[in-house]
Amino acid sequence: MDIQCTEKELFVFNKIAHTAQEMQLPCYIIGGFVRDKLIGRPTKDADIVCVGDGIELAHAVAKRFKPYPKVSYFKTFGTAQIRIDDWEIEFVGARKESYGYHSRNPTVQPGTLEDDQLRRDFTINALAISLNKEDFGKLLDPFNGIPDLAKKVIKTPLDPSSTFSDDPLRMMRAIRFASQLSFTIDETTFNAIRLNIERIRIISQERITEEINKILLSPKPSVGLKLLYTSGLMHIIFPKLTDLAGAEYVDGQGHKDNFYHTLQVVDNIAQNTDDLWLRWAALLHDIGKPATKKFEQGHGWTFHNHEVIGARMVPKIFTHFRLPLTEKMRFVKKLVEMHLRPISLTKENITDSAIRRLLFDAGEDIESLMTLCRADITSKNKMKVKRYLENFDFVEQRLKEVEESDRIRNWQPPISGELIMKIFGLKPGKQVGLLKNAIREAILDGEIANNYDDAYDLLMKKAEEMDLKPVSPIG
Ligand code: CTP
Repeated sequence: MDIQCTEKELFVFNKIAHTAQEMQLPCYIIGGFVRDKLIGRPTKDADIVCVGDGIELAHAVAKRFKPYPKVSYFKTFGTAQIRIDDWEIEFVGARKESYGYHSRNPTVQPGTLEDDQLRRDFTINALAISLNKEDFGKLLDPFNGIPDLAKKVIKTPLDPSSTFSDDPLRMMRAIRFASQLSFTIDETTFNAIRLNIERIRIISQERITEEINKILLSPKPSVGLKLLYTSGLMHIIFPKLTDLAGAEYVDGQGHKDNFYHTLQVVDNIAQNTDDLWLRWAALLHDIGKPATKKFEQGHGWTFHNHEVIGARMVPKIFTHFRLPLTEKMRFVKKLVEMHLRPISLTKENITDSAIRRLLFDAGEDIESLMTLCRADITSKNKMKVKRYLENFDFVEQRLKEVEESDRIRNWQPPISGELIMKIFGLKPGKQVGLLKNAIREAILDGEIANNYDDAYDLLMKKAEEMDLKPVSPIG
């Protein structure tokens, strides 16, 4: 083999090779699997292409395994999959493709291996390995994918403009691969992306979002985000983000370019977390800035309340991108809203009560919030960065101390709303809320201790002020 395979992979490829030989079908491993093996990246699924019927081959291969793996197939696309343990192998017949203007789904005709390599998006994705007896394991590279891998270049095998106009998702894929692999995009290929950006409109939002997520999860997401911006694609798929770009000047005073600041924050956070949602929070942390920007005489540029406005934008953005409207969205929203809170605690003479409030409001997400705040420091002045980081060390130390003594983070006030309703014979409503809040605030402010008896005494005092009498002798 021209690539290094594990014993299991060789065992499976041998079975496929024997089956294909019996059926007299020329057969090859192709695409991402070969690419990733050659650059030493962990491989995922394997694609097998045969000159003939891929679905028939998949059924015949499956029969050679015990237990017999299920074959899932799509007759219209001529593709079939089998799963061996956690490894998915996809079979397809070699094909030629032709595209219509309004869809990225081509009409296909049977073809040769070379036709099939030619229909693929990039030279580095068109590499094939033979599984045939006469040249088993040989690498077949008619479009110079190997030199492109060595040069770390993404390039289309065909005229790039037709590749991108045929299947515009490939523009996103080019940028995503550049970001994941730290490759550059060949100049002619990149110019073709610029010319075809409008074609992205025929791609479903789900597919676009999938590529954005992969860019965000790449080692240095700014590589992909910058390419989206410079190609013009970002103006179409994420205009709210491009609104952050540029610096305005009034009376010679400018503000920082919030787009490039955001990219730096995303890169910073990528060094400390692989959590997609924390990376989304970094991407969106200043999204409210354009809407709140003002030049105030005597103060300069201000973005008052941008964290609140930004947080309010998050559900709409998640809906647009078809991202989950679940606790993931609430997490991102909360982090955007809270991203300035720890900074306000870096000043001296901060009370325990302020620290307690931050712990209470952030709850389980306090570490993520601190990770975001640290990533948000993007000054070029090393001394400043050092000082800001030390300030956060100090806040984290205080958070630790207060949490150790007060256990606020997963805290539920010692008297619940249900108990309040029972004691005073109340139905859910404003009065219950007022009493509950009074207890919570008093504890967070350190006016009473965090225990049942003190909370009960305060409850009785507040209830009396509200003319409420206990109906049940609980407590
Ligand atoms: N392919 C293509 N055009 C697309 C999608 C895929 O030409 N729009 C081809 C490429 O040859 C690719 C192969 O199909 O290598 C498999 O596609 P896929 O599994 O989506 O991508 P991978 O290259 O394997 O990479 P990843 O799994 O990271 O997406």
